[in-house]
Amino acid sequence: MLTVRTMRPDDFDEVADLIFLSTNSWYQQNQGVQAFPGKPEDCRLFCDVYEDLDPEGGLVVVDERRELIVGSCFIHPRETHVSLGILNVHPLAFGSGVAKKLLDEIREMATSRQLPLRLVSSALNLDSYSLYNRAGFIPIQTYQDMKLSVPARGIPEEEKDLPSVREADLADLMSLGQIEFEVSGISREKDYCYFLENSSGLWQTLVSEDENGEVDGFLVSIDHPAIRMIGPGAIRSAASFEALLRAQLDRFRGKSVTFVVPADQPEVTRIGYDLGARNCELHFGQVIGEAQPIQGISIPSFLPESA
Ligand SMILES: CC(C)(COP(=O)(O)OP(=O)(O)OC[C@H]1O[C@@H](n2cnc3c(N)ncnc32)[C@H](O)[C@@H]1OP(=O)(O)O)[C@@H](O)C(=O)NCCC(=O)NCCS
Repeated sequence: MLTVRTMRPDDFDEVADLIFLSTNSWYQQNQGVQAFPGKPEDCRLFCDVYEDLDPEGGLVVVDERRELIVGSCFIHPRETHVSLGILNVHPLAFGSGVAKKLLDEIREMATSRQLPLRLVSSALNLDSYSLYNRAGFIPIQTYQDMKLSVPARGIPEEEKDLPSVREADLADLMSLGQIEFEVSGISREKDYCYFLENSSGLWQTLVSEDENGEVDGFLVSIDHPAIRMIGPGAIRSAASFEALLRAQLDRFRGKSVTFVVPADQPEVTRIGYDLGARNCELHFGQVIGEAQPIQGISIPSFLPESA
C-alpha cells in the first residue's frame, strides 16, 4: 500500500538517498550521464534548504509493505504562486503512478489557495515532461542549460562598458521583489530574505545598477557539491545580465558551473557562448493557471526551484 504524508526531519537522510538514486539512475539509463556526481548525502542539501524555507513543506510516498520511501517532492507556496521543487520516484517504482499521486496532492493544494502552480521541468526527460503535461501544465518559457568550466585564473576581462555590480544586502529586498514581479509576474519575499541573510554561507546575491544607480537586476548563485549553479535571477537588460554573470562566474574559479537562460533571447544566449559555455540540457518553465508573458530576462534555478 502507498501512503502520502508530510516529510519529517528524520526522513531527510532517506530522501537524500532517494534523490541521488532516482535522478542518477534515470539519467544514467536514458542519457548515459550522472546527474549528481558526488555522494548521496550531498543531496540532503535539498531537504535542508527547503526545510529552512518552508518547514514541513515536503511530501513523501511510503511503500508500507517494503517500509521504503518511494517518492518525494517539495512544495513552496509564495504570495503570487505555488512552486513545486525536485520530485523523485524510486527506480523500483518507476511507472507505477507514484509521481502522479504526489502531483494530485500538490495540485489540490494550489487549487485550494487559488494560486497558479509553477515548476521547471526537463524537456529531454519525457517521463517528467509527460507527467506534468498530462496533469495540465503548459510550457511558458523554453530555457537552455549552459555549463562552463571557469579557468582557475577567472574569466578574462573585456574592454566593455558594462553596468556596475555589487553584493546585495537586505536593503535591496524590495527591489528584488519589484524586478522579478515586473519580469516574470512572480514575487517571493521569503526566498530573497533567505538568499540575503545567507546563514549557511552557500549563497551569493549580486545586483546590477543602471546609470542612475537604480537596481535593474539581481542574480543569485549557490556553490555546493550537490549543485553549483548561477540563478535564480531577474534582470532588465542583456548588458546587466552579462555584468552579473561575469561577476558570479568569478566565484567559481577552477570549477564547472551551470546557468539556465531563456532560449528565445539570442543576445542572452550569445553571452554564454562567447564566454565558452556549452549547452547541456533544455528545460521548460511550466504553469497550471495564469502566467504573464516574460518581460525581461528570467533566470531560473533548481534550488529553490523557480521560473
Ligand atoms: C519523472 C518521474 C518523476 C516519473 O515518475 P513515475 O512515478 O514513474 O510517473 P507515473 O508512474 O506517475 O507516470 C507519469 C505519467 O506519464 C505518462 N507517460 C510516461 N511517458 C509518457 C509518454 N512518452 N507519453 C505520454 N505519457 C507518458 C504515464 O503513462 C503516466 O500517466 P498515467 O498515470 O495517466 O498513465 C520519475 O521517472 C523519476 O523520478 N525520474 C528521475 C527524477 C526526475 O526526473 N524527476 C522529475 C523532475 S524534477
